[in-house]
Amino acid sequence: MNLYSSKGIEAIKENKLAVVTMAGGQGTRLGHNGPKGTFDLGLPNHKSIFEILCDTLILAKNTYGVTIPWYLMTSNENNLATVNFFEENNYFGYPKEAIHFFKQGELPMVGENGKILLNENGLIKLAANGHGGIFESMFKNHVLEDMKSIGIEWIFIGGVDNVLAKMVDPVLMGLCISNSTLAGGKSIVKAGPKEKVGVFCKRNGKPSVVEYTEISEEMANATDKNGELVFGESHIICNLFNIKALEAISKNSLPYHSAFKKASYMNEEKQIVTSDVPNAYKFEAFIFDAFSTLDDMSILRVKREDEFAPVKNATGVDSPETARNLYLNYWNNLNII
Ligand code: UTP
Repeated sequence: MNLYSSKGIEAIKENKLAVVTMAGGQGTRLGHNGPKGTFDLGLPNHKSIFEILCDTLILAKNTYGVTIPWYLMTSNENNLATVNFFEENNYFGYPKEAIHFFKQGELPMVGENGKILLNENGLIKLAANGHGGIFESMFKNHVLEDMKSIGIEWIFIGGVDNVLAKMVDPVLMGLCISNSTLAGGKSIVKAGPKEKVGVFCKRNGKPSVVEYTEISEEMANATDKNGELVFGESHIICNLFNIKALEAISKNSLPYHSAFKKASYMNEEKQIVTSDVPNAYKFEAFIFDAFSTLDDMSILRVKREDEFAPVKNATGVDSPETARNLYLNYWNNLNII
């Protein structure tokens, strides 16, 4: 055991860790009818993504002898379906009292002509305000207060759609504790200059992520003396925050980015319009825009095949098929399933 993991394990055993899963996304690319976490990955045991994630908490419970509180951020759109799914599945065998749900905020959607859209009931059409909405909603829903009251100091925040996410990682915790940084993030080496991932960087001396849509070709291709990409540490939405950092971040508002997505709405003739292609803009805050509030962050580079199996698209790259194969390879190599 190394210095980092022993420090991390100590903190876990002292009940200082909570896990938050961001499950408020619409998952439009996957196209599953229901919250993404309810998707059956197609494993021989037909586990849903939520159950796969919960397995890691059960493993941690058995390993460290503590029940780590699990918070799930949902959206107005998918909250009920998510809560019902957990209830119907008996919380996957995890203690029910350790699982909490809270809803993220929403913002109006805008049509291609720049006008605010109406929903099927003739009211302003709202959509979840992006994963960066997490900070504000943790504060507004008293999640931070709740965590503080039970002595939580470190909070892992991850997406719902990485079926190899290591939500309980003593090494990342130990690294942040040893470096005295109030936050940390995991990175994997970017597969090549063109891979569609955001990469860690420093902006005006502060930690940040530059999105693949923003990076210039010159920056994307730049290599160091070892031939490695200069901007090659991919951000995989696996971050750890000290509660003090979350308290500070939740007081600031983050910028909004627009995303072009599929939406159904009521037009001026009161007809419902649906579309198979993106037809409306939603506004989203990104979790990594909060990093600039921090003086520094610890970045832990991990192996792609051990910790990154995203379920984004229905077929092809980052699809259930690729994620399932990565998941099976990882666990079969460990001889656990
Ligand atoms: P994505 O950026 O993949 O978005 O979210 P998405 O909405 O799930 O999927 P697409 O783009 O429509 O296909 C990355 C993570 O952030 C969460 C998602 O649930 C996922 O875990 N997220 C995203 C939220 O919790 N809320 C949001 O408003 C957006």
